[in-house]
Amino acid sequence: MKKKTTGKVISQKCLAPGIYDLVIETEIAKEAGAGQFVGVYTKDSSALLPRPISICGVSDDKKSIRLVYRVAGKGTAEFSGLKENDEVTLLGVLGNGYDIEALKKISSGGGNGVLLLGGGIGIPPMLELAKELKAAGVKVSSVMGYRDDKTFLLEEFKGFCDTYVASEDGSVGTKGNVLDAVRDKGISFDCICACGPLPMLRAIKEFAGDKPAFISLEERMACGVGACLGCVVKTKDIDHHSHVNNARICTDGPVFAASEVEI
Ligand SMILES: Cc1cc2nc3c(=O)[nH]c(=O)nc-3n(C[C@H](O)[C@H](O)[C@H](O)COP(=O)(O)OP(=O)(O)OC[C@H]3O[C@@H](n4cnc5c(N)ncnc54)[C@H](O)[C@@H]3O)c2cc1C
Ligand code: FES
Repeated sequence: MKKKTTGKVISQKCLAPGIYDLVIETEIAKEAGAGQFVGVYTKDSSALLPRPISICGVSDDKKSIRLVYRVAGKGTAEFSGLKENDEVTLLGVLGNGYDIEALKKISSGGGNGVLLLGGGIGIPPMLELAKELKAAGVKVSSVMGYRDDKTFLLEEFKGFCDTYVASEDGSVGTKGNVLDAVRDKGISFDCICACGPLPMLRAIKEFAGDKPAFISLEERMACGVGACLGCVVKTKDIDHHSHVNNARICTDGPVFAASEVEI
């Protein structure tokens, strides 16, 4: 359900230069799942649109959500100053996330499980997905890709799955990108779930070949609720409602079967 609501900051810490870990008590937690996101409003009244940030975690008691974000501009810089007990206005929960039952079905056939690939600020949503898949009894492995040795969240993945790492500068794990690490380590999989920059997602779509791959498109967004068409992606099939080869990332996604979208 999409709803504007007020949350209360429980904690915020800096995980790496420019990367923040924000925990917010909010009723949105009751409905939030892996791959979905929230809109976070700034206090600046000239900026009407909320900033989309993925769900990185939902507390076991379903009372709080965790957002891990990189400071990219004015909005996220403001969020980095939030302190315990501050109020924050949220819109959510937004988007269609990962279908855990479908992933369970796909992976039960092959026995190799689901491979999670996260690049840069595409890493946070993969953590909640790893947690939910493990809870559903799905075999999971993950490869996370970083610029350098600032491997935020990496240790937490190890609690849920076999975890590998790639870094652009070679300071940790395989030198290169996540697919270099998959090849380097000979990781088998029945299905891929990925989030990261568009060139990474394009390469993953090609690499997956005939195997299913589900990608989270975190492109620029405006309204976040399907009203402005500011986030469309070309699709293979014609949309039944609009009769065009388009989907809105904010409402139809952000998670899509890679085979369905032209990226
Ligand atoms: C569905 C979705 C989920 C997201 N989840 C996360 C997350 O979990 N963690 C996180 O750090 N970021 C995430 N983002 C990106 C985040 O929304 C933007 O970084 C943020 O809106 C920037 O706001 P700003 O006011 O700080 O920067 P602005 O002043 O609006 O922009 C600053 C710079 O960031 C770039 N930018 C703005 N939006 C995006 C975007 N969507 N992708 C890439 N670059 C962008 C701009 O081109 C500009 O160069 C997500 C985006 C989407 C659409
Ligand atoms: S952001 Fe407005 S329709 Fe998707």
